[in-house]
Amino acid sequence: MADPQERGKAPAGRGEAPRRRRAHTTSRDLERYANLFARRTQAMRSSAMRDLMAITARPEVISLAGGLPDTSTFPSDSFAAQMTRIAHESSAEALQYGPTEGFEETKACILEVMAAEDMAPDPDDLIVTTGGQQAIDLIAKTLVNPGDPVIAEAPTYPGAVATLCSYEADVHQVSTDDDGMQIDELEELLAGLATTGRRPKFIYSVPSFQNPAGVTLSGERRRRLVELAREHEVLIVEDNPYGLLRYEGDPEPTLYSLDGGDYVLYLGTFSKILSPGIRIGWVAAPPPVLEKIGLGKQAADLCTSTLSQYFVREYFGEGRWRGYIADLVEIYRARRDAMLDALDRHFPEQSAWIRPEGGLFLWATLPDYIDTTDLLAKALRENVAFVPGRAAYLDGRGGASMRLNFSGSDEEAVREGIRRIGQVVSEQVALYETITGEHRAAPPPEDDQPGGDVVPIPRRR
Ligand SMILES: Cc1ncc(COP(=O)(O)O)c(C=O)c1O
Repeated sequence: MADPQERGKAPAGRGEAPRRRRAHTTSRDLERYANLFARRTQAMRSSAMRDLMAITARPEVISLAGGLPDTSTFPSDSFAAQMTRIAHESSAEALQYGPTEGFEETKACILEVMAAEDMAPDPDDLIVTTGGQQAIDLIAKTLVNPGDPVIAEAPTYPGAVATLCSYEADVHQVSTDDDGMQIDELEELLAGLATTGRRPKFIYSVPSFQNPAGVTLSGERRRRLVELAREHEVLIVEDNPYGLLRYEGDPEPTLYSLDGGDYVLYLGTFSKILSPGIRIGWVAAPPPVLEKIGLGKQAADLCTSTLSQYFVREYFGEGRWRGYIADLVEIYRARRDAMLDALDRHFPEQSAWIRPEGGLFLWATLPDYIDTTDLLAKALRENVAFVPGRAAYLDGRGGASMRLNFSGSDEEAVREGIRRIGQVVSEQVALYETITGEHRAAPPPEDDQPGGDVVPIPRRR
């Protein structure tokens, strides 16, 4: 066998094409391509988590940055049995294209999941998508012209920031507190936009265990939000990947169930309750909107992976999906508690965070003289990562906040990760106090805080 070093030099035979090494990009190269880019690429933003993934994949790094469910909890023997059954019984079909809107059998599984949160859409109102992320993209593709107003929470899901930017939406972010989006502020915003004749295309919300803030929209606010959508004839996009991952407290009704599906477009996904690797999500929408979304999907990818849909069908056929979610809830609750405990031990008193009742994330806010984007570089030197708060805003806010994920690492790693971040934060606090001679007390309770910038969470000690 040829020495690997030599292989590139061998004459190109079958399977032996010499690998072309890319030289450094020159300014001439940049110019050549730059003139070709569409205008919308100027507004495109990279997702902070995607950028971090390459670094956090290193085994020595404890990543509290990703939104990763712990897929090692899925029993590998049952995965093997399901895939073997597919190979033996439906190989040709599973390897084939499928309908753009998804298979009826996949929709039947989706209906089971939605029923668990008291929703019962008509299967014809559903399209199976390549993850929830594609559903966000297709909705934006269907509804948003450059410059159109769209409303989102502050902070909002960083993956939605990337999508909304690429469609050149004019995003207005509404502050959030412990009870989710502040509806009074939303009402003012809607009224303000109406006076200038601008009608937002939709209000994007993650009402349960929000990514990134971890907060949940209260029942009262949910009702008010749905009423406002009707009054102003504005669509709501309810993105609900985490609703079934509740560790304490009582569930709130989904916006979709409160509205009945007239103004609320509902997004779901199997990513957090089964596997993100299978890339299956869905959207439920009123028929005229769904039809356009379907056309958008045809152009995007023809259909969602048939093989993945067959896997979902097999998995649900075994009837243990509820049991698996119950297992995840136990595991993630323990990890959340480990993180809360470690924060108490290792973060300086000037910091604050929320106690999420479910989901995968916790949002922490540090003294305003700390910039978490700078802090991340220091944290990475200690082999630990988080998502800097700015990734969740379009207007530069969130500089002193961070998103911490507790589902992707075991309890020991979660504790160690927080210890390392706490150490870096404490060093910054000590440095600040040395330079300024100042000792800042913990932030005042929520009611005394001026303005609603980021999630004004404190109340921890
Ligand atoms: C709020 C929210 N929406 C959508 C997604 C995308 O999920 P997926 O495309 O894996 O279904 C995520 C993933 O973290 C999320 O947190």
